[in-house]
Amino acid sequence: MTIQWFPGHMAKARRQVTEKLKLIDIVFELVDARIPVSSRNPMIDEIISSKPRIVLLNKADMADPKATQQWLAYFKGQGIHALPIDAKTGTGMKQIVSMSKEVLKEKFDRLAARGVKPRAIRALIIGIPNVGKSTLINRLAKKNMAKTGDRPGVTTAQQWVKVGKELELLDTPGILWPKFEDELVGLKLATTGAIKDAILNLQEVAFYALGFLGEKYPHRLKERYALEEIPEDRVELFDAVAKKRGCIMSGGWVDYDKTSELLLREIRSEKLGRLSFETTESIQQ
Ligand code: G4P
Repeated sequence: MTIQWFPGHMAKARRQVTEKLKLIDIVFELVDARIPVSSRNPMIDEIISSKPRIVLLNKADMADPKATQQWLAYFKGQGIHALPIDAKTGTGMKQIVSMSKEVLKEKFDRLAARGVKPRAIRALIIGIPNVGKSTLINRLAKKNMAKTGDRPGVTTAQQWVKVGKELELLDTPGILWPKFEDELVGLKLATTGAIKDAILNLQEVAFYALGFLGEKYPHRLKERYALEEIPEDRVELFDAVAKKRGCIMSGGWVDYDKTSELLLREIRSEKLGRLSFETTESIQQ
């Protein structure tokens, strides 16, 4: 679901997350492993403040494994705990629990020393729309829960979901906004399918994605579209893909809409393999 964010919505979303933070021990910040920076909320550090956190690189099944390894090292270097997961199939679920225990060990040891009875760790999942929050809650809860509160302004009573004996999750995630004032962030979110196609210009998104692939994954393009060379000019590259796929209108003109749709559909359905659209190097640049 794509949310239209307005300043009022953002303030309210922030308030709701801040309220929920009071109830929990640890935040699971969900990001898209293919774009770990663009799929973060720009004010996340300020909003979470000193609350312990684990960054979960979700959809790792679709991301370039090499890039994901680099991101893990990057987060480690920043002193942030991070884990690659796949909420759809459940890869990494056990590690979420074990890493949470590790992160909170000192706090729980301190409580035990004061005679406080041991209890389950309480956690909140937060992230921008479409990173997989509901999928992760359902996966951890091992049942299909109704999707609730996916719009700013929807308030539901807080409920806890048990994850084994050691973890409890708030059943409604915290939903925050991406950094949409940055055009490149919008293009990356659209390429990975986090933003509905109707919102951004499809051709613009496809041109961005194709240019990126031509630079970073030329061999995949060559293979998928049987191209001998990757033209440096993006329009020429676009035309070459269109011709190979028969996206040509009468009169021999390239059908840019059809080519854009095809290309984005194939990227999102992994026809070009596992891709990451953000690398640690690109961020440092
Ligand atoms: P949200 O609550 O954060 O808004 O996200 P949600 O769980 O609705 O997930 C958004 C989309 O991402 C869903 O696809 C979901 O299946 C997919 N998804 C979530 N986690 C993963 C993952 O780890 N790997 C992969 N490959 N996909 C994931 P959808 O197309 O909207 O629906 P559907 O494909 O489930 O029918």
